[in-house]
Amino acid sequence: MVVGIGADGWDGLSPAAQQAVSRSRVLMGSQRQLDLVPGEFERVAWPSPLVPALPGLFETFRDVCVLASGDPMFHGIGTTLVRLLGERVTVIPHPSSVSLACARLGWALNEVEVVSLVARSADLLRPVLTPGRRVLVLGGDPETVAALAGPIIVLEQLGGAAERVYPWSGQDSDPLCVIAIEYGGSALPRVPGLPDDVYESDGQLTKREVRAISLSRLAPLPGQLLWDVGSGSGSIAIEWARTHPTCRVIAVEQSAERAERIGRNAASLGVPGVEVHIGRAPDALQGLEKPDAIFVGGGVTVPGVLQACWDALASGGRLVVNAVTLESEAVVAQWYAKLGGDLVRIAVNRGSAVGGFTGWRPHMPVTTWSVVK
Ligand SMILES: C[S@@+](CC[C@H](N)C(=O)[O-])C[C@H]1O[C@@H](n2cnc3c(N)ncnc32)[C@H](O)[C@@H]1O
Repeated sequence: MVVGIGADGWDGLSPAAQQAVSRSRVLMGSQRQLDLVPGEFERVAWPSPLVPALPGLFETFRDVCVLASGDPMFHGIGTTLVRLLGERVTVIPHPSSVSLACARLGWALNEVEVVSLVARSADLLRPVLTPGRRVLVLGGDPETVAALAGPIIVLEQLGGAAERVYPWSGQDSDPLCVIAIEYGGSALPRVPGLPDDVYESDGQLTKREVRAISLSRLAPLPGQLLWDVGSGSGSIAIEWARTHPTCRVIAVEQSAERAERIGRNAASLGVPGVEVHIGRAPDALQGLEKPDAIFVGGGVTVPGVLQACWDALASGGRLVVNAVTLESEAVVAQWYAKLGGDLVRIAVNRGSAVGGFTGWRPHMPVTTWSVVK
């Protein structure tokens, strides 16, 4: 049994939730939550770290009621327990802090973006901050959030006697708070093809137009994993990850200096979760979690790279390879002959000043081979 409880404690529980708690013998939760409930119980405060300890706790204790903050199934312990214990878990929710915040602010819950920064980097906020968008942040530090987002409202101890809602201006605030943002700054779109100059780069960068075409072939979907092999400045990895917060990437790069740069680009463009592996393909690909799609932007001519990538894909997986040199084109041509797929040659010319006039400056043409397994 998992019962959601708010800052209003025992009195704020529904009669059904109070009955469910009262029928249990053992109460588990944070010390703060355990202190909210009167009566005779065996009380077990969460150990740290919590998740590895859970199976043991549920073997030792029977007849347990877990106290969770707000709605246990919303960034809460409820989801972890259902994963661990399956159908044995009954959940009685309480309004979440996000519902209470929307009630106080007069915001439509369905129009608000919610970001949890509990044990996560504040850089995750960056892709969410778009003009006019309302955002609620859980587990954030007001100073860090305000530095990224501008003016914020802090909502503390929602639903409790000590509730406070105020525009933040540097004061100390309760760690139990929700932060509300109405963003007024500029933003980058989530659609691939960001300007080249948003990336820190040593020139090893798939240029904007080619990047947009490559990502359309990679076809990212929520929850899917990409390998970006020869990740360079990380632009393909980053734009894959930016399409949806659940998209994941492993960027493989042989140069340690570039790998560090990928990390910096990923943080500044709001996807700090991009996983960077320093190593040379194909060896560096061994043991990695199998991907849904693979982009090869470097190492095409290294023996075994394309074979290892092809082997790693399950049926339906997408492989996209970019070739710029004659040598890499020759490898691509062999694979195209063997597997088919789609060959596209991308020739980009950019209008630029020629004296007092404007002329076309060609970029090196790129051959893109894409194939679905
Ligand atoms: C043209 S860049 C890729 C650009 C990248 N798509 C971007 O937009 O930032 C090619 C990269 O592949 C890397 N590379 C080449 N061969 C590799 C290999 N066998 N394993 C891992 N990285 C490799 C190079 O160090 C270089 O950074």
